[in-house]
Amino acid sequence: MTAADKPPADDPATPHGPDTPFHQLGGEPGVRELVDRFYDLMAIDERFLRIRALHPNTLDDSRDKLFWFLCGWLGGPPHYEARFGHPRLRARHLPFPIASRERDEWLLCMAQAMSDRGVVSPLFERLLQSFHGTADWMRNRPDV
Ligand code: HEM
Repeated sequence: MTAADKPPADDPATPHGPDTPFHQLGGEPGVRELVDRFYDLMAIDERFLRIRALHPNTLDDSRDKLFWFLCGWLGGPPHYEARFGHPRLRARHLPFPIASRERDEWLLCMAQAMSDRGVVSPLFERLLQSFHGTADWMRNRPDV
């Protein structure tokens, strides 16, 4: 594993068990609803136009991939790894220009999705902090 592939230390996927964010969100149905809300918002809310433009025309595959990834990342079943192997998330994002502005759009979209799905404190803050660590690590372009 290279340094660029190493996940940030605040990856919430440990420890496994009933106290994981995965279970607190309601398991697979809860994670699916969160991902669906995230991409629904990205599709309709003009605050997220910049990151929407980086995605394919149809978001169906993006929804599935983020759902599979988040299940494992949040402490549930490793569906993404089972299909695609190691996520290499930073490498997979290199084709997309991600600076602070794109990072912040992504995080605002996720914060709005969590809020709309009724995710409350302290889970909300814990997850937002973890998402921030991962999104920040994905930046691959200087700010202009
Ligand atoms: C920082 C801002 C981010 C931007 C602009 C961004 C953008 C994108 C784009 C354009 C794709 C390709 C979509 C597709 O092929 O259907 C993608 C894929 C993906 N993103 Fe992000 N992303 C960001 C952050 C994140 C974060 C924080 C996570 C996880 C916590 C994440 C997880 C994923 C996953 C799992 C995939 C699928 C990778 C694959 O198998 O091809 N992304 N992202």
